[in-house]
Amino acid sequence: MATFQALVVDQLEEEVETKIREISLDDLPAGEVLIKVHYSSVNFKDGLATKKNGGIVESYPFIPGIDLSGVVEASEDSRYEPGDEVIVTSYDLGVTHDGGFSEYARVPADWVVSLPAGLSLREAMVFGTAGFTAALSVDRLEEAGLTPDKGPVLVSGATGGVGSMAVAMLAKRGFEVIASTGKESEHDYLQQIGATEVIDRKELTPEKIRPLDKQRWAGAVDPVGGETLAYMLSATKKDGAVAVSGLTGGTSVPTSVFPFILRGVSLLGIDSAYCEMEKRQHVWSRLTSDLKIADQLETIAEDISLQELPQTLSSILTGEIKGRKIVKL
Ligand SMILES: NC(=O)c1ccc[n+]([C@@H]2O[C@H](COP(=O)([O-])OP(=O)(O)OC[C@H]3O[C@@H](n4cnc5c(N)ncnc54)[C@H](OP(=O)(O)O)[C@@H]3O)[C@@H](O)[C@H]2O)c1
Repeated sequence: MATFQALVVDQLEEEVETKIREISLDDLPAGEVLIKVHYSSVNFKDGLATKKNGGIVESYPFIPGIDLSGVVEASEDSRYEPGDEVIVTSYDLGVTHDGGFSEYARVPADWVVSLPAGLSLREAMVFGTAGFTAALSVDRLEEAGLTPDKGPVLVSGATGGVGSMAVAMLAKRGFEVIASTGKESEHDYLQQIGATEVIDRKELTPEKIRPLDKQRWAGAVDPVGGETLAYMLSATKKDGAVAVSGLTGGTSVPTSVFPFILRGVSLLGIDSAYCEMEKRQHVWSRLTSDLKIADQLETIAEDISLQELPQTLSSILTGEIKGRKIVKL
């Protein structure tokens, strides 16, 4: 191929511009594995990468996209050979290293995961970082002792990527799921993917957050953070746990020590980007088995083209996206 298409973010004098451009292999960064990208997906961080001062991109021009799946075209590392189906998510992909919104990507071999048996290249991107993060959250909550008999599990930001995936995965594991959303029009969607109860997200940000409130849930998956997390902790049942992964609701958490020292509540931090390889492979393998949510994948996913990406990236920053957007390269 002489040239191919990629979504490139570039710095103009005052602004940042996001455009589809024709580029060549010489424009890609160094790495041992060259991949023909088949699919990518849209995550909140990708939206931030297209924003001036979004805190993601260090130098321009830059190709965002923190997820990709595809086929190895060439490899200087003996673990991979042309024709291998692979996934790359996390590390610096789409952050400081050009990412998946491109027909070709070149990456360090240590970031590559072989596509697990039982998952197609497209399914791997329906999960992508959002699905991986939801699965890691469920895995950590279960490790902390959460079982369906302990009580319901709350999911915040439930119509988003991490949220939708967590709702469906927890339901598949037999949990009663309370889904919180700001989108009144999407209550049916949330019930369809497994929520037993849907609540308005305003309930999670009361005017006054008490140090300890009425105990409502045994566990929670929280991609929202901020005040939502503070209330969530104060209403978590004795010995429950909350897995926090995100910040769409803010970064400051006005909480106190009381949920921790009087109710034994655990706060579990979820970092998908630098999750160690053994855990990473364990989580991907759960995504092919007990967390696969095969029946819900198509309700959650919608395919988009490279041309539709700029609009989708701006919508994810305003919380308008429902489920997962899969980019077909
Ligand atoms: N730690 C990690 O490894 C990791 C991995 C992946 C993602 N993340 C983070 O997790 C978060 C979610 O990512 P995503 O890709 O799922 O994004 P997303 O698809 O945009 O979902 C975020 C959801 O949060 C809710 N929301 C948006 N603005 C809000 C506000 N002001 N207050 C309360 N809720 C709000 C909305 O859901 P409703 O309308 O349904 O309320 C929205 O759909 C982001 O902060 C992302 O950076 C972290």
